[in-house]
Amino acid sequence: MLSFDNVTTVHPTPQGEIRSLDRLNLEVKPGEFVVLRGPSGCGKTTLLLTAGGMLRPTSGTVRLEGRDLYALGERERNRLRGQTLGFVFQMFHLLPYLDVEENIQLAAMPRNLLGTAPNPRALELLQLLGLETRRHHRPTALSAGERQRTAIARALLNRPRLVLADEPTGNLDPANASEVFRLLRGYHESGGTLLLVTHGTAADALADRVLEMHAGAISSRATRPATGSSPAVSPA
Ligand SMILES: Nc1ncnc2c1ncn2[C@@H]1O[C@H](COP(=O)(O)OP(=O)(O)OP(=O)(O)O)[C@@H](O)[C@H]1O
Ligand SMILES: [Mg+2]
Repeated sequence: MLSFDNVTTVHPTPQGEIRSLDRLNLEVKPGEFVVLRGPSGCGKTTLLLTAGGMLRPTSGTVRLEGRDLYALGERERNRLRGQTLGFVFQMFHLLPYLDVEENIQLAAMPRNLLGTAPNPRALELLQLLGLETRRHHRPTALSAGERQRTAIARALLNRPRLVLADEPTGNLDPANASEVFRLLRGYHESGGTLLLVTHGTAADALADRVLEMHAGAISSRATRPATGSSPAVSPA
């Protein structure tokens, strides 16, 4: 589904080069729920942006559904991303890595967002995430947790084959966090593939595999059984 082969990303800065990914290797198989855990600054967000076709690495190969993502033309890459991926970003506002046009394309990517015509799927997700009363609010009128839940609804709306989630419960209280985990588990149990990055351990119980990341590379791995219980919801 997704693979990284010897991927390195170097950012030139006035203070010298910063290497955010360092010969990183990773494979996520179809239907897997992989948690990637690591401290702040170890390269987790860089990895997800790279996986999503939004940040070209300095060297190495990234494959999404068997296709070399950065060997594709931009249009083709955008199409593949739009057909395959759902994102839950750590910063749900504009991404500093993208220009204005790209940020807009990103928002338009999931078709029928919480759109004009009532979309039953959107209504279902609004309800599941406790956002019905905020349905017509603008993001500036939402709390951080409400924005986070909106971002999760957006990521799941098109039933993508792969969800990339960056600290998806980082802004949520325990009750809302477990609601989000329940939704992600339902998505996984209905066949969805997930790569979730975090510094915490809260998502470990959901994962098929938990990987540790340090200084731009995956350092060790532990295999964990997926939780067996059925979700109360099945988002896909
Ligand atoms: N565009 C950039 N220019 C320079 N340095 C960058 C850039 N993007 C990321 N970095 C650096 O690369 C490293 C990894 O950043 P990244 O955002 O991927 O970390 P992270 O693991 O997501 O951290 P956090 O848990 O705090 O979100 C950091 O040291 C960061 O400062
Ligand atoms: Mg990050």
